[in-house]
Amino acid sequence: MAKEFKRYLVTSALPYANGPVHIGHLAGVYIPSDIYTRYLRLKGCDVISVCGSDEHGVPITIKARKEGVSPQQIVDRYHELIKKSFEGLGMSFDIYSRTSSATHAETASAFFRKLYDEGKFIEKNSMQYYDEEAQTFLADRYIVGTCPKCGNDRAYGDQCEKCGSTLSPDELIDPHSAVSGSVPVKRETKHWYLPLDQYEGFLREWILEGHKEWKSNVYGQCKSWLDGGLQPRAVSRDLDWGIPVPVEGAEGKVLYVWFDAPIGYISATKDLTPDWEKYWKSEDTKMVHFIGKDNIVFHCIVFPSMLKAHGGYILPENVPANEFLNLEGDKISTSRNWAVWLHEYLEEFPGKEDVLRYVLCANAPETKDNDFTWKDFQARNNNELVAILGNFVNRALVLTQKYFGGETPACGELTDYDRETIAEVAAVKASLEANIENYRFREALKEAMNIARIGNKYLADTEPWKVIKSDPERVKTILNIALQITANTAIAIEPFMPFSAAKILKMLATEKFGWERLGAMDLISAGHRIGEPSLLFEKIEDDVIQRQLDKLAATKAANQAAEAAQYVEPQKDTIQFDDFQKMDIRVSTILAAEKVAKTKKLLKLTVDTGIDKREIVSGIAEYFTPEELVGKQVLVLVNLAPRELKGILSKGMILMAEDASGKLRLLQPGDPTNNGAVVG
Ligand code: MF3
Ligand code: ZN
Repeated sequence: MAKEFKRYLVTSALPYANGPVHIGHLAGVYIPSDIYTRYLRLKGCDVISVCGSDEHGVPITIKARKEGVSPQQIVDRYHELIKKSFEGLGMSFDIYSRTSSATHAETASAFFRKLYDEGKFIEKNSMQYYDEEAQTFLADRYIVGTCPKCGNDRAYGDQCEKCGSTLSPDELIDPHSAVSGSVPVKRETKHWYLPLDQYEGFLREWILEGHKEWKSNVYGQCKSWLDGGLQPRAVSRDLDWGIPVPVEGAEGKVLYVWFDAPIGYISATKDLTPDWEKYWKSEDTKMVHFIGKDNIVFHCIVFPSMLKAHGGYILPENVPANEFLNLEGDKISTSRNWAVWLHEYLEEFPGKEDVLRYVLCANAPETKDNDFTWKDFQARNNNELVAILGNFVNRALVLTQKYFGGETPACGELTDYDRETIAEVAAVKASLEANIENYRFREALKEAMNIARIGNKYLADTEPWKVIKSDPERVKTILNIALQITANTAIAIEPFMPFSAAKILKMLATEKFGWERLGAMDLISAGHRIGEPSLLFEKIEDDVIQRQLDKLAATKAANQAAEAAQYVEPQKDTIQFDDFQKMDIRVSTILAAEKVAKTKKLLKLTVDTGIDKREIVSGIAEYFTPEELVGKQVLVLVNLAPRELKGILSKGMILMAEDASGKLRLLQPGDPTNNGAVVG
C-alpha cells in the first residue's frame, strides 16, 4: 500500500541568478513541476510550490567581475528577469523567493550553527590554490585547467562541463586562475566539512532499500555515488560573496553555495507562510524535488544528509530528475549563447505560451537526453495543437452557435456509439492520474490530448453538419456530448496548458471545474448559453521558423569566428638580425590589377615600387576585386627571386596578414608614404 499523505511540498531547483532561463531549464525542471502542482491544486490537495533565485556562488561573482559591477547588481538584474519570465509562462509558484533575502541568511546561518554546535562538522586545515596577483583563494570555478578524465582544457575546479565529471581543484592538470590567468600557489586555509561518509549507511537504506521506485536515472546515479564511497565535503569557501560562516574566527569565509541554496527551499516556505513547519516537519507531507540531472547528488545525497544531521525535517519522497534537452543537435550553453531564452520567446511569440509548454512537455528529456528543434516545434503546433485540440474545440463551439444560437442543446437518447465515446473519455482520468503521479508527464499529456482526439473522431463519425438536414433532434445530442467533451478537455489540459484551458472555459462561459469532474457528462447544462468562439491556436508559418533558425545560424557563426580568432600560430624559430636585413621591403602603389585568365585565385598586379614599375602575381583574387586594389599603397618584398606563374614573371610579393579563419588583409603604411620607402 502506498503511503497516504495529507499535504504536498513541491520544490523546483533554484535557478542561478547569473543568466536568463532557457528551454533546457524549462523542460528539465519547471514545466514538470508546474504540471504536477497544478494537477494537485485542481484535485483540491493541500499543496505549495516553492522556488526562488540562487544568488550565491562563484559563477555570479565571475560574471560581476567581467562586467565590472557588483554581484548584487547581477543578481538583482537576473532575479527580476527570471521572475517575470516565469510569470509570463504561467509558472504557478506560490512563492518565488531569493537567497539574498534576510530570512534566508538567518535560516541558513542557524542551520549551520546548529550542526556546528553539535559537532556535526569536521574542521580541517588544508592547502588550497591561491591567486597571489588577485589576492584571493580560488574555489570552484575560479580555477580552470585540463580535465584529467577527458582532456578538456577548460574544466573548472568543481566540474568538467564537457564530460560531466565532478572534480576537485587538485585534480586539474595545469591549473590557472580564472581571475587573473596566473599560475596559483598553495596556501593553508581552514574549512568545515560535512562527513558524508558517516551518512552512507543511512543513505543506502533510505534510497537503495527504501526508494527502489525512483526513476532509474536517479536511482542509478545515487547507487554509483554510494558504491564509489562518500568523502567529507567542504561546506565553506574563502569568498566575499555569500552568507558569512557564523563562527568566531571565520572572517572572509562564507557558506558554500550548495550548502545554503537547498536551505533556500525552507526559507522560501517561511517567507510564504507562518505555518511553514507543517510542510517541513510533518511526516504527513510529501516533499518532491524537481531538478535536472546535474543536481542529483546535491538533492539525493548531500541535502538529505544535512537534513538528517539537523534532525526534525522530512526527507524528499521523490526526486524526479530529468536528463538534458539539446537544441538543434547541440548542447545548450549559456556562455555560447546556444539556447532559446524564455524572455525572448515570450517577446517573439506573444500569446503562444502554451505552445512552448506543450512542445517542451511532449518532448521532455524524461528518460534520456532529447533534442528541441524548431521544425518539431512547428510540426507539433500545426499538426497537434491546431489540427487536433484547436480544431475540435472550434467545431464544437461554432456548430453550437450556428445551429442553436449558442444555447447548449439538451441531450436526448444515446446511441451505442455515444456510450462508447463517453466511456472512452471517462477512462482517460485514471491513466492520466497514474502518469502524472508517477512523473510520466509526456504520457500524461498524450492522455489529455486523447480527449480532444476522441472528440474530433466523434464529430467526424457522427457528421452533425450532414445530419442537421434530416434529424435536427439527433444533432442536439451530438453537440451536447461534444460540448461536454470540450469542457472535459479544459480540465484535462489545465496542468499542461493553463492559458488554453482558461480560454476554453471562457468560450464555454463557465467557471473552472475541479479535477474530480473529469469524465463527467453534465458539465454544461442544457440551455446554458456559451460565449463567442475564437481560435485556440494558429498555424505557425515557415518564415517564422526560418527566422529562429537564422538567429541560431548567426550565433553559430559568431561562435566559430570567436573560436577561430583565439587561434594564433606559434612563433617560428629564432633568426638573426642579418637574416632580417636580407629582406628588402618597400612601400609601393598598385597601379593596375586584373584577373589572370583561367585561374580562380590569381591577380596580376602592376606596382610602382619606387625603384621600378613591375608585375607581381598574387593569389588573392578570392579576397579582393581588382577595382578595390588599384591606387592602394602596400608593402612589397621586392628582392624575392622572380618566379613564372601562368606565363607571367612575378617579381616580388605583396605582404598580407592572414587571420585565424584564413582571411587576408593588406598591410599598408599608416600614412601615405613615398613609393620606395624602406621598411625595416
Ligand atoms: N542553482 C542550481 C543550478 O542551477 C540549483 C540549485 S537547487 C538548490 O544548478 F537546491 F540548491 F536550491
Ligand atoms: Zn572532462
